[in-house]
Formats: sequence, structure tokens, C-alpha cells
Amino acid sequence: MKVLNSFYVLSNGVKIPKIGFGTWQIKPGEDAYNAVTLALENGYRHIDTAEGYRNEASVGRAIRDSGLRREEVFITSKLESHIKTYKGAKEAFLKTLKNLGTDYLDLFIIHAPWPWDQVGKNCDKGNVQAYKALEEFYMLGKIRAIGVSNFEIEHLENIVKNCDIIPHVNQIGHFIGLDHHDLIEYCEEKEIFIIAYSPLGIGYLLENPVIKKVAEDYEVSPAQICIRYLIQKGMAPIPKSVHEERIIQNTKVDFVIQDEDMEILDNIKGDPRRPQ
Ligand code: A2P
Repeated sequence: MKVLNSFYVLSNGVKIPKIGFGTWQIKPGEDAYNAVTLALENGYRHIDTAEGYRNEASVGRAIRDSGLRREEVFITSKLESHIKTYKGAKEAFLKTLKNLGTDYLDLFIIHAPWPWDQVGKNCDKGNVQAYKALEEFYMLGKIRAIGVSNFEIEHLENIVKNCDIIPHVNQIGHFIGLDHHDLIEYCEEKEIFIIAYSPLGIGYLLENPVIKKVAEDYEVSPAQICIRYLIQKGMAPIPKSVHEERIIQNTKVDFVIQDEDMEILDNIKGDPRRPQ
């Protein structure tokens, strides 16, 4: 079966498409509406958005106008990073449902362990409070799977220790070259599934000469190598594009990267988003 039509299964039995469509940095309004429409027309069935992207309403409109049944599309959204209270999280979730024009979400996650303007701040108590609101909606059937994003091991441990439901998902920025070995191992141990955002390193990775060479060997594009690599690692990449040919290209990953080439890719180190 084609990767695009295949699923992973989360620890609670919920199926999640192997490839998703990321909408970070897609402007609200026509840009988000058109990109999501193209993604759905071309077979994507997981759309990832966030209250923080300000494009939930356009994303929701595109999903509704697609003609697909609600249950055919896996929708993820995120609790804004500065909301660290039980009451705030409940209100925010209901607002997200309204923005998206749906009465349930497939996945709702805490966007980050700290507010984006206070990176590194200890919000352990607030994360537990917010997560308890997610648990409550999960138990009510309003969210099919819950989780977190950008959480390191210490942040995950706080949730595991102080909440009832182990997160089903941790969505992290992950792509060839990043060393998340310990975090990935921890997540595997706890059956926390990894969704990889920025699978192309926001595009910077596509200039990597080693990836370009591997891509040539397989007669595919560097983007396809980056996406396929993550699939072979058992993760769900969510590439973003606003261009139809790229939206389509990013789904054509039904080739297999041989072990020796996976090793070559494993040996790439560094984060091209932050050139030294
Ligand atoms: P655009 O949206 O203009 O097509 P990531 O998913 O890692 O965040 O990367 C997204 C970036 O990579 C965007 O700048 C996007 O540009 C670009 N991009 C997405 N798919 C491709 C592709 N197949 N080839 C080249 N660039 C791509």
C-alpha cells in the first residue's frame, strides 16, 4: 500500500496517517485555505494546525469544503504555549473547536513546555494543569488522542508522574542531522509516538550535498529522501508547502532507502537552520 494511504497506530489504538500536512508559517486566509485544499485533493489525510498559527479557521473551512467526511481527515491542533492553567486550557480547546468548525479533534497537544517568549522557564505545574484539561476532554470523547509538543524527557516525566494518561504523541522538530537519540529512546519506551515537524529543516536541509547525492542515486528529490528517511525511522513527518508540485512530490515516497544509505544519512550531523 502507498505510504500516503498507510497508518501508524498510537498506543491507544487510534490510527494516524504516516504522512501529514504541516501548516506552520502558512498565512491565514486564502494561503492556508488553498494549501490545505490542495493537500486534501492530493491525498493527505492528516492536517496539522495550531491556535498559535492563527490559521485554524481557514484550515477548518478547507476541510469542510473538501467534501470529505469528517472521520476521513485526522485533525491536529495545539494549545497555545502560554496557556498553563486548567481553565485556560479548557477555554482554548473549545475555541479551537469553534475555529475549526468541528465538534472533536483527532489530536490536541500542548504546543510547548514553556511560553515561546520564556523558553526554558519551569512550567511543570502549569503543564500538569493544562494536561488535565486535555485528559478530561479525551475521556469525554472530544479528543481522540492527546499529547505534547517540543517536550524534552524532563517535561515528559513531569506529565507521566503527575497525570493519568501517558501522552500518546510528542510532536518535535526532527530531521536528518538532529540528535534526539535519548528523547526518542524514552518515547519508544513509553510508547509515545513521534510526529516530526520541519522534516525538511524548514527547507535548509535540501541543500545538503550528501542528501543531494543520495537523492540523485534514487532518482528522487532531496525532500523525498528527507521524508522517506523519517518514515523508515517509524515517525510521521508533516512537511509543509504552499506549492502544488511540491505538495504532490512530498507524498511520492514509496521507494526504500537501503540500509547502507540510511547509515550515510545517519552520519549527517548538525542543524542547518542555525548555521555555525
Ligand atoms: P514552499 O512552502 O514555498 O513550497 P518544513 O516542512 O521542514 O518546515 O519545510 C518547509 C519549507 O520547505 C518551505 O519553505 C517549503 O517551501 C519548502 N519545501 C517543501 N517541500 C519542498 C520540496 N519538495 N522541494 C523544495 N522545497 C520544499
